[in-house]
Amino acid sequence: MIIDKKDRSPVLPGRRSFLSKIWIGLGIVALAECIIGGISFFASSRKNDGKDTEAVIIEAGDINTFLPGTVTLIHAGNCYLSRLDDGGLLAISRKCTHLACAVPWVAERNQFECPCHASIFDKTGDVIKSPAPRALNLYPISIENDMVKIDISRPTKRASFASDQLVYPEETA
Ligand code: FES
Repeated sequence: MIIDKKDRSPVLPGRRSFLSKIWIGLGIVALAECIIGGISFFASSRKNDGKDTEAVIIEAGDINTFLPGTVTLIHAGNCYLSRLDDGGLLAISRKCTHLACAVPWVAERNQFECPCHASIFDKTGDVIKSPAPRALNLYPISIENDMVKIDISRPTKRASFASDQLVYPEETA
């Protein structure tokens, strides 16, 4: 028999062994919860890494309403549809590539002007004046039965404008 020195009550070996087993059991349960929690966390972060994000398609409008040489704010997509003089289309994000302020289109000067730190972009979204480090992001465009559709779930980063970014009606009809 063992005597506990603090309370002077006897501690039976059977009781000590029983308490040890409970502590070991609780430790195993806690460890299992940590492992399961970790696996679920990594599984959910892999699912949301952007590659398997579902497309969110908005209808911007009939292609014939977007005249060449115009930039139109698409409220539903929080983006602009820029139609260049040759008829090519770009769906341009409103988010400044400097610190993400919303960038308005200033028609009188034919350019996007960021109100936060004065970056300027042309109608292709290309940087004319920094501090913006690169062109405004683009969204994929498709045209079905003259309806311009924009996938706002997949913004594409780009360093600058290139002509292969333009979408023409005949390409997707
Ligand atoms: S957020 Fe646009 S220039 Fe800084």
